[in-house]
This record gives sequence, C-alpha cells and structure tokens, in this order.
Amino acid sequence: MPLGLQTAQLNFETIKDIGQEGRNSSVFIAHDKQLDGQIVVKQIEKAKLSNPSEYYREAKILYASSHPFVVGVNYGCSDNDNIYIAMPYYKNGSLKSSMDRQHLTIREVIRYSIQFLSGLNNIHSKGLMHFDVKPDNILLSDSNEALLSDFGLAKAMDNLGFASPDKVYAKQMPPEVFANTDKTIQFDIYLAGLTIYRLLNGNNHYYAQCSFPNQAAQIKAIQTGNFPDRNAYLPHVPLKLQRVINKALNVNIKDRHKNVLELINELSDIDENLDWRYEKNGAVTTYVKDLNDRTYQIQLDSSNINNPLLSSTKTMKASGNSTKINSHSHNNLTKNNVLSKLKKALKEI
Ligand SMILES: Nc1ncnc2c1ncn2[C@@H]1O[C@H](COP(=O)(O)OP(=O)(O)OP(=O)(O)O)[C@@H](O)[C@H]1O
Ligand SMILES: [Mg+2]
Repeated sequence: MPLGLQTAQLNFETIKDIGQEGRNSSVFIAHDKQLDGQIVVKQIEKAKLSNPSEYYREAKILYASSHPFVVGVNYGCSDNDNIYIAMPYYKNGSLKSSMDRQHLTIREVIRYSIQFLSGLNNIHSKGLMHFDVKPDNILLSDSNEALLSDFGLAKAMDNLGFASPDKVYAKQMPPEVFANTDKTIQFDIYLAGLTIYRLLNGNNHYYAQCSFPNQAAQIKAIQTGNFPDRNAYLPHVPLKLQRVINKALNVNIKDRHKNVLELINELSDIDENLDWRYEKNGAVTTYVKDLNDRTYQIQLDSSNINNPLLSSTKTMKASGNSTKINSHSHNNLTKNNVLSKLKKALKEI
C-alpha cells in the first residue's frame, strides 16, 4: 500500500550548453544545488512530446538500461514546460568528437565497439531497442570506455521482438526503414555496423558519400546496398573485419548477425593491422605505429599519380635514429600496384 505522493523541489544552475551534436533536446552542464556537484541536464520540451505518457519515457528506459557500458542517469524531473534528465557529466565527450580529433586505430575501434555493443546487447536482453546508434550517441567515460547514450528514440519490443521507431535520422537509415514492417534488433545491428564503418574510415570518408541528388537516389542506394560503399574501406582495415561489418550491413535482415553477441564475437577475432594510425594530408597518406621503444612509419605520396612513392622507416626512440626499411620503400610503382605494396607493408612491418 503506497504511503502517499510527495512533490519536492529541485534546483540546478545551468552553466554551459554542450548539446551541439544533438537536435531534439538542449544539453547543459549544470551545478546541482542539493548535491553541490556537477551534472549534465538534458532538457526536452514537453511540447515536442506527443502526450504526457511520453514525458518520462526516455528517463525510464535509461534507468531500466543500467549497465557498465550504458551512460548513467541520476534522476528525471520537470517544470511547466520541460522534462529534465540529470546524468553524470562525461567530460571526454562523444566518440564522434574523439574520431574527429584523430583517426582511431583498429585496436581502438574494436575495443570501443565491443564496449558499446555490450551496452546494446544489454538493452536488447531487456526487451528494448535503441534505434539511434551512431558515434554522436556514444560517450567516453573518464576511463576511456565507450558508453551507449541518447535513448530518445528507444522503444520497448512487443512479445514477438518487434518495435517501430517514431522517427529516424536521414543519415542513418537501414533499408527496412522504407518497408512498412515492424523492426527487429537487426535494425540496431545495421546501425552498429554503420557506426563501426564510420569509426574505421573516419567521418569525412562517410560524409563524402552522403550527398545524393535527391531523396529517391538516397533510398535506392541504401536499398541496393550501394550506400555505404562496402568496397571503399581504407587500406589498413583487415579484409576479415570488412566482412564482419558488411555482414552487419547486409540489406537482407536475415543475413545480418543473429544478435549483438555474435557481432561481438566476430570482432574479438580480428588480430591484423591493429596499431597503425592513419592520417591523410592532401596527396600524402601517413601510417604510424607507435611501439614501446620504436616508431614505424609508412608514407605514401601520391602527388604524381603516375609515380606514387612509398617510403617506410623505423625510428628508435632512445637514440632518435631513423633507418629506411628498404623492402617496403619503392619509387617505381604504378597506379595498379601501389595499393598491394602498401597493404603488404602494413601487414609485414
Ligand atoms: N552526460 C553527458 N556528458 C557529456 N556530454 C553529453 C552528455 N549527454 C549528452 N552530451 C552531449 O550532448 C549531445 C546531445 O545529447 P543527446 O544525444 O542525448 O541528445 P539529442 O541527440 O538531442 O537527443 P535525441 O536524439 O533524443 O533528440 C551528445 O551528442 C553529446 O555530445
Ligand atoms: Mg544524440
């Protein structure tokens, strides 16, 4: 027998707007007066929600999704116009901003992916679908772990494992968005595949594919599996990993991973080219592998497309001495064999 409803007052002072990456809410760093501590408050206008039963849906789903690889929630509250979700402040920001600062290595992509996928697997096992998996919605904890975030589109599945999102974002759409059917967890698996594709190749590589002459062309490219380009991975991405991601991105739902655990297991099995960091500057592509006592560098200069130059060096950290790796340096390459020579160097050094 409940003892009675209490209504209490909460005060927090908003300090800084940090929600630039999101569109349907405002996100602030705030100071919680009661706890005398820093929090993040996500503010959602009541007017944007269809009816009062929706007010705390996101907060409730977030609370129900509690897991080491899902962002935390402190409380939900409201005033006349807005709903507020109070969360811990993750000062390292999103995976999107992190990958914009520097390209991720394969080892980093696999580690972050296994982490946010563990969060995703947890919410699926609780009968929920996320519907908005993307690098902006994965936050980095203080110990640099990738946490699944933003449950604004999340929904409970019905008894048969189906659910439908209320909306989708134009840059992140599985082919089944255009079919008038209920969606399964393979919707999230496709979005996870798309997220990992972006983590591997970088945001610019992804955005460059996102301009379509019109919406019909975009829909066609998604439905035929031409977007994103499954053959355009950067040269250091192992073929085995490309196959795993292309499986998650399969246009046919039944040919994708059966569940998130299957995807996690396949990612755990990748052991090639793990530590190369890619950087592109105009016509020059540089790969750096930083080990304890030495640094390897492979540089491809394609300024003259008919005579690309590949140079590989080893630098010992203690002495600063650099030596050329002759077996992986070439100045007599052609457009046709340069890629295979680069891939060989990435694999063998
Ligand atoms: N707890 C947090 N700590 C640090 N930054 C955060 C936190 N929560 C959100 N952010 C930042 O604010 C951005 C927007 O937040 P979020 O993704 O939850 O909202 P949104 O995209 O507007 O939501 P929705 O998709 O429901 O409309 C995130 O991409 C992230 O950069
Ligand atoms: Mg978001």
